[in-house]
Amino acid sequence: MTSTPATGPWVGTSWKMNHTLATAREYATTLATAAAPGRWPGVQPFVIPPFTALHTVAGLLAGTPVLVGAQNAHWADAGAWTGEVSVPQVADAGARLAEIGHSERREHFGETDRTVNLKTRAAVRHGLTPLVCVGETAEVRDRGGQAAVDHVLTQVEVALVGVDQSAVVLAYEPVWAIGEGGRPATVADIAPVHQAVVERFGGLHRVLYGGSVNHDNARDLLSVPGVGGLFVGRAAWRAEGYLALLDLVSGG
Ligand code: PGA
Repeated sequence: MTSTPATGPWVGTSWKMNHTLATAREYATTLATAAAPGRWPGVQPFVIPPFTALHTVAGLLAGTPVLVGAQNAHWADAGAWTGEVSVPQVADAGARLAEIGHSERREHFGETDRTVNLKTRAAVRHGLTPLVCVGETAEVRDRGGQAAVDHVLTQVEVALVGVDQSAVVLAYEPVWAIGEGGRPATVADIAPVHQAVVERFGGLHRVLYGGSVNHDNARDLLSVPGVGGLFVGRAAWRAEGYLALLDLVSGG
C-alpha cells in the first residue's frame, strides 16, 4: 500500500496508559486491514500507543497511511536520565510524531512551557513532527474567554521559540474538556481560541482540537474555522470507535 500526503484533517488518538501488547496488536491489525488506500479521502490518521507497544504498532501499520507517534520524548539525545526515552529512541522504534506537553504531563509530571519548548526543538532536530498540546485550565477559563485566549497564545509562543512553525502540529485541548468528568466544549467555547491561534501563528502545519471528542460532536468541532483535525482519547481507545470516527469525518 502506498500513501499520498493527506490534505484534509488529521484525526488521531493517544491510547494514553492503555493496551497491553496483545490488545495493541489486535487494534493495529484491525486498523491496518481497514486502512486501504482511499478509504478516508484526504484524512491523515494517526495513533499514539504507549512506549511498550510503539515498535509493534509501527511495524503492523508500516505501509499504511496511518502515522504512529510517541506520547512523550525527552529533550536530550541520550544520557543519564533514568526512566526517560529520547527522540532518537522513539524514532528508532518507528515513531514519526512526538506528542509533547499533554495536560496530564503538565499537571502530574511537572512539564512546563519551557520543557515543552526543549522537547519540541528535539523532535524537529531529529525530523519528527511534534504534536504540541496546549490548553487552559478551568480556573483560567472561569476568568473568561479572553483569559483563555491569552493563556493559550503564551503557551504556544514559548513552545515555538527557535522552532520552524511549519514543522509543528498543535493541539488545542482545554484541560476542563479532557477525560472522564470533562465538560465537552462547544463550538462557541473553542472558536475564538482557534481563530486567535491561526491569526498569530499562521505558519503552523495545522491546529487540531482535542478534549471529549466523540461521534456526536466530531463533525461540529471539525467545522470550526482554524480546526485542522481532531485529537481523540476515550472515543478511539477501541479500534471500532476510531474507525467509526474516521468514517464519519471522511463522509463515509
Ligand atoms: P478525551 O482525551 O478524548 O478522552 O477527553 C483527549 C485528550 O486527552 O487528548
